[in-house]
Amino acid sequence: MMEDDIVVSFVEKLRQTLRQREESANPLVRLSIGALRSVVHSARTVKVFLSDRDYRAVALLKALRGRKLHQTTVVTSMNRYPGIFGACQAYFEEREDLEILSYGCATGEEVITLREYFPSARIVGAEINPRCLAICRALQVDDRICFIDSDDELIRKEGPFDAIFCMAVLQRTPHAVEAQGVRSLAQTYPFQKFDAQLSAFDRLLRHGGLLVMHHTQYVFSDATVASRYAPLAEQPEPVWSGPRFDRNSALIEGQVATPSIFVRQRT
Ligand SMILES: C[S@@+](CC[C@H](N)C(=O)[O-])C[C@H]1O[C@@H](n2cnc3c(N)ncnc32)[C@H](O)[C@@H]1O
Repeated sequence: MMEDDIVVSFVEKLRQTLRQREESANPLVRLSIGALRSVVHSARTVKVFLSDRDYRAVALLKALRGRKLHQTTVVTSMNRYPGIFGACQAYFEEREDLEILSYGCATGEEVITLREYFPSARIVGAEINPRCLAICRALQVDDRICFIDSDDELIRKEGPFDAIFCMAVLQRTPHAVEAQGVRSLAQTYPFQKFDAQLSAFDRLLRHGGLLVMHHTQYVFSDATVASRYAPLAEQPEPVWSGPRFDRNSALIEGQVATPSIFVRQRT
């Protein structure tokens, strides 16, 4: 038997023994098994932290900038929302002086895509994850595109904007939330965080500008600033994209689908 096989078989035997003892009638045995499991779990977490740079980046973000952090996963792709991008393009009718913010641009694909739809716009990609930001900054882009850290003051200096895209950002691990049947986001991603972010966007957006969001766990009409906006008339049919939560961060029963594109009214 090879050394690795011996280790694997030992770990498997240990697991089986632990599983059997978990059912023990003796509370002391059950307590010890629980403690042992926590030690093994902590050791595994430390190992992943030390060996996986992506995991480490998110863990550090949670520790150091947790109050600002929304979605932690960095999944993205080119032209991910063609219907939404196309509707925004039609709204602006080839205006050449647009200024656009892509908030939570991950590794930059959204910004590169927006350049295709808005060839002469100035586009700012803001990202909180330093590993993603480094990837963005290594991209070959024109001088009307820049990537910045998602710091309120830095973003404010780049604004105001005609459109803010915030796609798959205002949420926290939605697949796990759905799979685990979570009924409250109060501890992990409270409504106040969503609401405060939308108020911040509102201060950055020109009248007549577009606030564009997709894959959110809360509903835009619940936001403090919602009354200043109207859904864009010509946009893709809203589709259900996972569980939604109310102002108390509690699950809304049933499937709620809302529009993605909102026009800042000239008040
Ligand atoms: C799932 S990705 C979405 C990427 C892209 N917008 C898309 O839809 O394909 C979410 C991104 O939001 C970023 N993010 C989370 N909180 C943020 C914040 N406060 N400011 C800027 N980016 C943030 C994450 O680091 C991650 O890259």
